[in-house]
Amino acid sequence: MTFQKNILITGGAGFIGSHLIRLMVNKYPEYRIINLDALTYAGNLENLTDVENKPNYTFEKVDITKMDQVKAVFEKYDVDSVIHLAAESHVDRSITNPMEFVETNVIGTVVLLNVAKNYWKDFAGKLFYHVSTDEVYGTLGATGLFKETTSYDPRSPYSASKASSDHFVRAYFHTYDMPIVISNCSNNYGPYQFPEKLLPLFINNIKHNKALPVYGDGKYTRDWLWVEDHASAIDVIFHKGVSGETYNIGGNNEWTNIDLIYLLCEIMDDELGRPKGTSKELITFVKDRPGHDKRYAIDASKLKNELGWEPSVKFPEGLIKTAKWYLNHVDWMENVTSGAYQAYYKKQYDA
Ligand code: NAD
Ligand code: TYD
Repeated sequence: MTFQKNILITGGAGFIGSHLIRLMVNKYPEYRIINLDALTYAGNLENLTDVENKPNYTFEKVDITKMDQVKAVFEKYDVDSVIHLAAESHVDRSITNPMEFVETNVIGTVVLLNVAKNYWKDFAGKLFYHVSTDEVYGTLGATGLFKETTSYDPRSPYSASKASSDHFVRAYFHTYDMPIVISNCSNNYGPYQFPEKLLPLFINNIKHNKALPVYGDGKYTRDWLWVEDHASAIDVIFHKGVSGETYNIGGNNEWTNIDLIYLLCEIMDDELGRPKGTSKELITFVKDRPGHDKRYAIDASKLKNELGWEPSVKFPEGLIKTAKWYLNHVDWMENVTSGAYQAYYKKQYDA
């Protein structure tokens, strides 16, 4: 079967990557979607059981830092486009283990860029799309928004490693004329997020009557975007974005952590049929995260004005959908928290 495009999506077994794979596989049967993922603790092929047998989907268990293995995948599928999401993504882990973030996020990205450059030679019809984060811009005060022109000012090993990878992608555009686009997105939420991140962790803790560890005073602000809206923005930028450009993606949905948690607690009381105020009792203020960025907020007007994208899901609707999804997917949550998901897929793919 010949495909119109052979698109390599890295990190497709993770949270955002699995939503993007689902969207691309279903919407574009004329494209072959190759999911390249090392299946680290954050990769879970259970996120993709509904598309795993589609004729335009294929999976390769490969580590992006391994040049030979990445090269072999380019050759096997004649890859013409890359959408790169594979990364170590959790700030707290980057504080305890920064080297892993340098290896995957920096070196892994440069390996991919280098393999693409050498394999493609001629750049006509090619694209390297790098998925990044708003955290590269650092932190905001009470007012203002991150624009595409905001100077980089990363504060955590995670954001520093993502900033570094963004710089390399731009360097390949300027030095070698490689066609690239970059998007920097705010905090995502929704189904299939690993329960070390705020929302799935707190939903699971509330369900099991466990403490909700709020860092510092909880007065940190994040701009929350429904994960399928991020995937739809990537689709738009992949098809309509201008090479060399950066696009900010955001939800226009700012919440302080503590207000977000209060809202979540109310929703969870309703969903679990508990008396109002029950879940709130679980809130526990704990020691702050070192280097904790005060506020992130995105100006996504370039994406709206130039490419016509806007978020579709707002709060509280999106938060209610999220709470319901985790409560209804008990097996998924239990497989992840027990580690069973890893044992099964590691055995299958390492054999
Ligand atoms: P995630 O941690 O859920 O998934 C990361 C995926 O990458 C996993 O499937 C993992 O197995 C894979 N991976 C890790 N190291 C690898 C390696 N060496 N080789 C191959 N695969 C590897 O992450 P996510 O939240 O889905 O984020 C995806 C991307 O989006 C990241 O680049 C992240 O920086 C960016 N981003 C995330 C958010 C967010 O709110 N989660 C916001 C903006 C941008
Ligand atoms: P997180 O989901 O880790 O995303 P990021 O750090 O990339 O924004 O955290 C979101 C916010 O919630 C952040 O300000 C840290 C805070 N937080 C807590 O207060 N307690 C927690 O247990 C976690 C995981 C996060």
